[in-house]
Amino acid sequence: MPSTLPDGEPAPADGSLPVSALEGVGERPFGLYVHVPFCAVRCGYCDFNTYTAEELGPASVPGASRATYAAAAVAEVRLIRGVLGERDVRVDTVFLGGGTPTLLPPEDLVSVLASAREELGLAPDVEVTTEANPDSVTPEGLARLREGGFTRVSFGMQSQVRHVLAVLDRTHDPERVPRAVEWAREAGLQVSLDLIYGTPGESVADWETSLRAALDCAPDHVSAYSLIVEDGTALARRVRRGELPMPEEDDLADKYELADQHLRAAGLEWYEVSNWSTGEATRCRHNLLYWTGADWWGVGPGAHSHVGGVRWWNVKHPAAYAERLAAGVSPALAREVLSPEDRRVERVLLELRLRDGLPLDVLDEAGRAAVPDQVAAGLVVAAGDRLVLTDRGRLLADGVVRDLLA
Ligand SMILES: C[S@@+](CC[C@H](N)C(=O)[O-])C[C@H]1O[C@@H](n2cnc3c(N)ncnc32)[C@H](O)[C@@H]1O
Ligand code: SF4
Repeated sequence: MPSTLPDGEPAPADGSLPVSALEGVGERPFGLYVHVPFCAVRCGYCDFNTYTAEELGPASVPGASRATYAAAAVAEVRLIRGVLGERDVRVDTVFLGGGTPTLLPPEDLVSVLASAREELGLAPDVEVTTEANPDSVTPEGLARLREGGFTRVSFGMQSQVRHVLAVLDRTHDPERVPRAVEWAREAGLQVSLDLIYGTPGESVADWETSLRAALDCAPDHVSAYSLIVEDGTALARRVRRGELPMPEEDDLADKYELADQHLRAAGLEWYEVSNWSTGEATRCRHNLLYWTGADWWGVGPGAHSHVGGVRWWNVKHPAAYAERLAAGVSPALAREVLSPEDRRVERVLLELRLRDGLPLDVLDEAGRAAVPDQVAAGLVVAAGDRLVLTDRGRLLADGVVRDLLA
């Protein structure tokens, strides 16, 4: 969730949604995202809406500090119930992301989940994930999360190579990763590892070291994203000053292919261009819900939501967020109602990246006319009524999408 907010029409102070958006709520999958906007240190490449203790300063507003944040998030969960009224939703997935959710005491994270259970109800097979930095967990904390209903933890491993971690400003000792994974397993949690490739100074051999180290941990799930140099970050400034080189396209493609080979050999199959799992049961259902246009409510400062074709986003700063909730006002800042064309374009962008592919009837006439060339170029195959990226197509997914939307 990058931190820049889009423009939109003002959102109502009570958080209410158009009746049309609420139609069918509860019949579609429903996810809850809880943004926890705190980090011990800001990584130079990260543009997410997160704050170190120093950046926040002395907490003048209850709810804007780590110590009081959970209560503010719980207040927004209560507001969801108010907006949905009597409608019966069943939360299928909960995802605590950040920032670093595990900087808060496990009890706080459990209390937010408990409020969702109480106010909204959780599906019997609910998936509950928290993101975590490897140096922000303990065996006891992970066991408490499991006991409180969490089912999954996603560790920001990024790399196993010290000089790469240093360029990324990551604070954890790489030796901590296998231990943290072991603690999570002992607690009974599924484990996902996040990796980044293409960091300036990372060789192909470094990337292979990281892949091997990740696979030695036997994760259920791996996400591997190329490093994005986001405007306004310390990393972008270093690249502009010539201190660090930009990642190169060819290097990124080689590293993606290497990742796919190693992951596949270890029994992890891709189900989205940047995500691999050991099977269907270990796919991240929460992310799948984003990628398939389901309903989700994003709780927390700067969090984005989507329900029935209405998209909205909250005020960005934790103090503004907490102040609004304390005054009984929705933290939603602005919203937009997606047109059928917006929704179609979004489906092409997201569903083509899935292994299950994009239904051909989502393409418009020009898009369908572009398909034979894409097939001839070996980038996609038509599987029944769906268009699916080939291995080569996965390397060039953005270009394929551009052509299908041209
Ligand atoms: C925002 S973090 C939150 C979780 C946790 N704090 C961590 O760093 O693992 C979620 C994931 O986004 C990744 N991420 C953030 N900025 C990125 C960027 N510019 N390029 C690629 N991945 C990025 C992080 O490395 C991390 O794996
Ligand atoms: S720890 Fe995670 S959320 Fe925090 S600054 Fe680093 S990448 Fe961003």
